[in-house]
Amino acid sequence: MTAPAAHPPTAIRSGAAIKRSAELTTYLRAVAAREPDPGLRCPDQLAARLIGPEWQRMLRLPLWIVRSRLEHNLPGSYFHVLARTRHIDRLLTEALWAGIEQLVILGAGFDSRAVRFQDQLSSVRVFEVDSPGNQVVKKERLRAALGSLPGHIIFMPVDFNHQPLSEALISGGYQTSLKTFFIWEGVSYYLLPAAVDAVLKFAAVGCGVGSSIVFDYALESFVRGDYHSRRAARMGAVYATSSEPFVSGVPDGKSGAFLEERGLRLISDLGPAELEQQYLRRKNGSLSGRPSDFLRIALACNG
Ligand SMILES: C[S@@+](CC[C@H](N)C(=O)[O-])C[C@H]1O[C@@H](n2cnc3c(N)ncnc32)[C@H](O)[C@@H]1O
Repeated sequence: MTAPAAHPPTAIRSGAAIKRSAELTTYLRAVAAREPDPGLRCPDQLAARLIGPEWQRMLRLPLWIVRSRLEHNLPGSYFHVLARTRHIDRLLTEALWAGIEQLVILGAGFDSRAVRFQDQLSSVRVFEVDSPGNQVVKKERLRAALGSLPGHIIFMPVDFNHQPLSEALISGGYQTSLKTFFIWEGVSYYLLPAAVDAVLKFAAVGCGVGSSIVFDYALESFVRGDYHSRRAARMGAVYATSSEPFVSGVPDGKSGAFLEERGLRLISDLGPAELEQQYLRRKNGSLSGRPSDFLRIALACNG
């Protein structure tokens, strides 16, 4: 299934559009946190308190209605976000066991991990990097949800397309010699290719040995408008009319070489089949739903 490339790689999103994608993602987690099957349920119980009132209203609908609407309008997105949250939580837990000294959440949006994992982060420096507008709203929402802003998070406003990540982080007290875990979730495809390269290269050389980065990426074929399924074509149509186009991808089947060129070694690269197997099975073994087939989640390290 092929469609003309809809998105020139020069597109940059407006502040308002950026906020919407972060809220939508958080809404998906809030819905998934209501899954009755404990084997499937999203662990982000804070998500519902970080979204705006209009999204909270939609949460009151019965779960089956919400899920079927989501699957109709944005096929695969709900299950991708559900599996992605649980996978990255697992990788963060493993990174903490391995003794990371810094955690950097890039394009953090309304990610609540810095709060959810707070007890395990007492000896870890925690940075959240995001577009300035989103970060202001995030801080307001955290204050409202928790009573005050968590003191252990260092918030750094950055526009990845226009500002060097290193400068911003270092000005906030980030240390390039420390073993660092970077979480870059739901962001890479929205950035210009040069900004993607800069982030990956920073994760390779701007931190201590043994550092790693987890991120999800779009297949380059999808970004070009070459769709491998009806569901991908449907999402391609959604993005083609959206103010939030996908502008970057990783060449299909070549993530290892792509990361090596940017100084990183691929550790794992999970596609829909692995995500279904590991995160989307009900207790009785049946499949709850299928995630997007044009997105994958890579873990890479610099050592
Ligand atoms: C879909 S949201 C994902 C948010 C969060 N990581 C999550 O999974 O909930 C995309 C995030 O990328 C951030 N982002 C997109 N373009 C950016 C840019 N040029 N500079 C900084 N942040 C950007 C947005 O502010 C937003 O928080």
